[in-house]
Amino acid sequence: MNILLLGNGGREHAFAWKLSQSPLCSKLYIAPGNAGTASCGENVPLSPEDFPALGDFAQQHQIELVIVGPEAPLVKGIFDFFASTPGLQTIPVIGPSQEGAQLEGSKAYAKAFMQEFGIPTAAYQEFSASRLEEGLAYLTTLPPPYVLKADGLAAGKGVVILNSLEEAQTELRAMLGGKFGSASATVVIEQFLSGIEFSVFVLTDGKDWQLLPEAKDYKRIGEGDTGPNTGGMGAISPVPFADAQLMDNVRTRIIEPTIRGIQARGITYHGFIFFGLIRVDGDPYVIEYNCRMGDPETEVVFPRLKSDLLELLLAVPSGKLGSTYPEADPRTAATIFLVSGGYPEAYEKGIAITGLEGIEDSIPFHAGTIQEGNQVKTNGGRVLALTSYGASMPDALVRSLRNAEKVKFEGKYYRKDIGFDLV
Ligand code: AMP
Ligand code: GLY
Repeated sequence: MNILLLGNGGREHAFAWKLSQSPLCSKLYIAPGNAGTASCGENVPLSPEDFPALGDFAQQHQIELVIVGPEAPLVKGIFDFFASTPGLQTIPVIGPSQEGAQLEGSKAYAKAFMQEFGIPTAAYQEFSASRLEEGLAYLTTLPPPYVLKADGLAAGKGVVILNSLEEAQTELRAMLGGKFGSASATVVIEQFLSGIEFSVFVLTDGKDWQLLPEAKDYKRIGEGDTGPNTGGMGAISPVPFADAQLMDNVRTRIIEPTIRGIQARGITYHGFIFFGLIRVDGDPYVIEYNCRMGDPETEVVFPRLKSDLLELLLAVPSGKLGSTYPEADPRTAATIFLVSGGYPEAYEKGIAITGLEGIEDSIPFHAGTIQEGNQVKTNGGRVLALTSYGASMPDALVRSLRNAEKVKFEGKYYRKDIGFDLV
């Protein structure tokens, strides 16, 4: 079967790597892909947000399944575009409808959803510019630190956590004044939750759902979880503290009511739900929903999925998800991201990467890379994720660290402490 996968990050390379192992996959196209996905299928220079061009491509190449990696096309309604365009309606899309994608696309929508369906999350209120004064007053009722979230997608920068009331009030004025454009026309202010974060993933058809291996990512640039947030510096799976009791509570208090909510609202949801969770005093709370897989979590979740990913995905549109049984590899998988010097601030692109051929016992998942002739070059802040298996977490991490040494490019930086806080 011919498949079209959308996106160009490490997550999409992990998708392409896993899909290309399926005997059901005859031809895999990746739009636009990167230097790594080119080894699993054929890259095509199309934007994941150019729906008419993707639709034409899908028709011309007899595509039978479209898999959406990033959130932007989902929030923009790619599922609905295929479902409502003559000639494309028979091509299933893995991803939620535009309404389902609001769980990620609008923080205010997600918070109201959680409140309606009794899903544990931080207390909150939402404010638009016309209620600035009430927002400023609400902040005075909260203890520090203050959590302010732009309602809409803001390239991962829309959450601001501040220690002083004054800074928080200034930030609220700036956000409602257009700091993140229309994404911060509404701002969610919420209670700060203190605990340890982890990520849980399900694949659902809006009725049945299947749990995938859980993971934990490391978001800060600096060792010891310091410095600014990044897209993710590394990840591990399984998560040592996600024991049977915690996961049982995740299922009954969070996943099941979320699926019930999706049904109660009549939302079409044929894709992944990524629950960004935090454990507070032993109990799980939702920090955020995402309507797609995580990055870099996918780079450890799919290596631990023993089942055929394509078979699982095909069970979604065919309504057979309830009778699939995803199996997890008992080994640990760990990934460490090599990033460009300067990231997450300004960094250079187009720097030659060497040493890739020397990688042993790790899977290199490309993210910000590009092939130019015979040379692979950097093409983004997060360049390459090195995933390894291990009988234990340190075992897996040490393999990735060893290979992180071998890959070379000017300005290369990576965290050497990923995962070791949990050993
Ligand atoms: P996001 O950009 O939505 O992934 O959020 C960025 C990060 O902000 C999360 O991963 C958390 O570390 C932090 N965060 C968001 N909401 C809260 C909260 N209510 N309490 C504590 N930390 C939070
Ligand atoms: N790892 C967090 C994310 O994908 O949003």
